[in-house]
Amino acid sequence: MSKPGESSEIDSVLIENRRFDPPSASAVGAPRWLIGSMDEYRAMHKRSIEDPEGFWGEIAGEFRWSSKWERVLDWELPDAKWFAGGKTNLCDNCVDRLVDQGHGDDTAIIWEGEPMGGEGPEVRRLTYADLKRETARFANALKSLGVKKGDVVTIYMGMVPELAVAMLACARMGAAHSIIFGGFSPQAIADRVTDAKSRVIVTCDGAWRRGKVVPLKQNVDEACDMLADRGEAGVEHVVVLRRCGSDINWTQGRDNDYSELVQGASDEFPPEPMDSEDMAFLLYTSGSTGKPKGILHTTAGYMVFTATTAKYVFNLIPDQGQVFWCTADIGWITGHSYIIYGILPNRVPTLMYEGAPNFPEEDRFWGIVERHKVTQFYTAPTAIRAFMKWGAEHPKKHNISSLQVLGTVGEPINPEAWMWYRKHIGRDICPIVDTWWQTETGGHMLTPLPGVTPTKPGSCTLPFFGVDAAIVDNDGQPLPKGKGGLLAIRKPWPSVLRGIYNDRERFIETYWSRLPGMYFPGDGARTDDDGYFWIMGRVDDVINVSGHRLGTMEVESALVSHEAVVEAAVVGMPHEIKGTGIAAFVTLENAFTPGSPEDAEKLRKALTAHVGKEIGAIAKPDMIRFAEALPKTRSGKIMRRLLRSIAAGEEKTGQDTSTLEDFSVLAKLREPQEG
Ligand code: WTA
Repeated sequence: MSKPGESSEIDSVLIENRRFDPPSASAVGAPRWLIGSMDEYRAMHKRSIEDPEGFWGEIAGEFRWSSKWERVLDWELPDAKWFAGGKTNLCDNCVDRLVDQGHGDDTAIIWEGEPMGGEGPEVRRLTYADLKRETARFANALKSLGVKKGDVVTIYMGMVPELAVAMLACARMGAAHSIIFGGFSPQAIADRVTDAKSRVIVTCDGAWRRGKVVPLKQNVDEACDMLADRGEAGVEHVVVLRRCGSDINWTQGRDNDYSELVQGASDEFPPEPMDSEDMAFLLYTSGSTGKPKGILHTTAGYMVFTATTAKYVFNLIPDQGQVFWCTADIGWITGHSYIIYGILPNRVPTLMYEGAPNFPEEDRFWGIVERHKVTQFYTAPTAIRAFMKWGAEHPKKHNISSLQVLGTVGEPINPEAWMWYRKHIGRDICPIVDTWWQTETGGHMLTPLPGVTPTKPGSCTLPFFGVDAAIVDNDGQPLPKGKGGLLAIRKPWPSVLRGIYNDRERFIETYWSRLPGMYFPGDGARTDDDGYFWIMGRVDDVINVSGHRLGTMEVESALVSHEAVVEAAVVGMPHEIKGTGIAAFVTLENAFTPGSPEDAEKLRKALTAHVGKEIGAIAKPDMIRFAEALPKTRSGKIMRRLLRSIAAGEEKTGQDTSTLEDFSVLAKLREPQEG
């Protein structure tokens, strides 16, 4: 781990002085800006901090409750209870409430499939009434399989409308979902199913990705075999949606066809009244140690916070022809909060795209923006860097002038990518909302408000309502402006995680012990003279690859599980597109020591494939170096900083010819500094 304070000097060299005043609403074609001025933002923020109960109580009143809460907030560190004593339902507030208000025929979801036929792509539109009917049917289908309130349903699907239906159906019946990103491996599915004690998996035969089929059902079959081998109770039911028409194996008695199940199901299923603090879902994410942790979110606070952040951060206004598009996969928190739960209550259509950004060509996204007249576009820095590489001619081929607000999330955005985004996608005028938040925070925490906050390339600017953020030192003492330190959140907000599933101790240790009385997100940051926040990255052993968190430990244990590997150390390295790539330093069993560069290359390939199999393609190392021994301090700690600088140097020289390396010399040289 590096001490964040140390980087502040380096950072001041990188100070970014460009500043962009917000445009008028008419300049970008927005109906109006929901927040009118910085003074209004400041007044609202001040109230949200001083009187959170008044502030959030008023907003929560706009949702539908089957019984009203008794208290807005109970806070006893580390346990926050929001709207305690109230009963409500997430699906009801995303769907039925709007139908009952007379908006059943409004479009809720616009979906575009990946395959491009001669007549263009397949497009489906679901109205709120469609969603009400389909979620009721699927809730009945799940019920017929024995799913009850409080159960965990695992969802491992491609980006199809039925994925939205499945998650909302869980919410409707009070089951929690645990959605697993389609890029994860059978091993990762099995581990998550075990941890969540889930008995039902909803999947697809396959998912379209860049013209090829990702074999989702086959991965689920393999995961089920692994669970059986481990002698676990196992998965009782698998529900399979046929999307790609690919050949799949069928296990009688366990596998169920999605369409057959819903065909016979009734379209009446009243939303289950849920306690405000009942579990809404689990979402597994990486931590610095051990296995992925099941981040637990509950019902009412998550509902209120995601819808409110979505409304103000993206300036969502119904009946004004807006179309919101978040390009994330629903398997990540960004998709949970800003494709589904935060957007649907705002009654602006949410766009779901099934496939890859460069299929069939690199202009696919801009074709989608043009076809559906997208007004808000939310993506990740890694995607923006890919767009840059592909070239500005691709957006130029399309009329993308419908865009009003651009967003980014997932990792610090480099100012160069920010400027490119503004110029080539935002017509040099659209506000960019750089939103800092986490799986654990449920919704946006630090972010500009469009049309209000002056922006600076690379800064996520200021706290959202209800967020009390500060930069502190290791003892939790506030640091002066300009100094790098730890980012801390000093008060609970409605969608703060309520736990790590089945691991109270890890919950307390990871988030609530490092800084006295505060939430510790694990990021380093600084503020500038205007109080703007600049995120400097993770301070723990988590690396952020393409905007997705990976614990270095997870990749290390995957490597060590290969027969050739004795020990492995994984660090981040600079990567042109991904932001951070994965560098692995590995020591080998004698029998596997490569005799030639060709052998070494073969082994590298085998190890890369092995990690892909253990975790998934996102975890595949970008560089593997073999070593006689790993550099360690006297106390036996791997000298990660040394490995990081070696990996960074390698990126610059582009060399990777060594078959075997002796780090012990280097280690000895560096020892006094690191020990
Ligand atoms: C990083 C994604 C800088 C950060 C919603 C955080 C960011 C981790 C930003 C959470 C941003 C996310 N600027 N860094 N705008 N957004 N991060 O859980 O390190 O996948 O802790 O949630 O991503 O990643 P997660």
